[in-house]
Amino acid sequence: MRGIILAGGNGTRLYPLTNVTSKQLLPVYDKPMIYYPLSTLMLFGIRDILIISTPHDLPNIEKLLGEGTRLGLKISYKVQPQPQGIAQAFTIGADFIHNEPVALILGDNIFYFGAGNISNFKKIIKNNPKDAVIFANQVTDPERFGVVEFDKQYQVLSIEEKPKSPKSNYASVGLYFYPGDVAQKAAELKPSARGELEITSLNNAYLAEQRLWAIPMGRGNAWLDAGTPESLIESSAFINIIERRQGLKIACLEEVALRQGFISEDAFLAQMQKLPNCNYKTYLEKIHQEIYGI
Ligand code: TTP
Repeated sequence: MRGIILAGGNGTRLYPLTNVTSKQLLPVYDKPMIYYPLSTLMLFGIRDILIISTPHDLPNIEKLLGEGTRLGLKISYKVQPQPQGIAQAFTIGADFIHNEPVALILGDNIFYFGAGNISNFKKIIKNNPKDAVIFANQVTDPERFGVVEFDKQYQVLSIEEKPKSPKSNYASVGLYFYPGDVAQKAAELKPSARGELEITSLNNAYLAEQRLWAIPMGRGNAWLDAGTPESLIESSAFINIIERRQGLKIACLEEVALRQGFISEDAFLAQMQKLPNCNYKTYLEKIHQEIYGI
């Protein structure tokens, strides 16, 4: 399975924060925003990752993450010249996907999954290799979102963009898993009235073939979209509270890489030693001690 992080866009709602900086490099508490979606892909076991961003922002993202070798990843980069829709990730990424299953995560979406949940989600995705699987999160204001209606087996019955009378309380969120034919399906899409290749149109193409399933996130999981000033500070507050209460970091890439077995203990220590004296380094030392003893 490969993974794509879509990290372009205009960031209009965060202006002037995004005037010279990419939205996905803004801080969410103690890390750049893109660490969170990257760690989510890593927790799903994905190591071959394409990052798509604007011509202006891509060089800075590349400066931050490089080729990913230090995290046991293979990261490649592609430009989206104009923000012409989320589903464009698959036409831009067609060569990268190479007819293999692929996950897409939005660069400003933050997921927090309770212990053990990801392995259950992975099983569902693995058991539906020819189908698309999208994540749905319960919200109090579904009329603001793409609303997913599904049956008792979690087969999707409809997705409606910002409906006046929502058929469920579940919003489609920025984490999607597709089978190998996704680039071909995306290439067949027509731009919407606003000139974008819509992710909902892509999902509806799978729905029309009865190949679309939902994973309702349920209690113990959280989803945040850090795209507005309010949600950005709420995301920071959320991460801050969990990290300080538990003493465990969310989206600490070196820790995830080590726990996932992507890097060796030696590679982890080499990374750690390169860091200046800071809380992040102290945390890595603590994790190392916890896993290997003194
Ligand atoms: P949005 O938040 O919908 O758009 P935006 O980032 O341009 O922000 P604003 O509406 O404030 O101008 O995008 C969600 C995510 O998807 C975000 O990480 C940017 C990314 N995105 C792209 O990279 N390319 C695109 O064409 C679109 C539509 C989104």
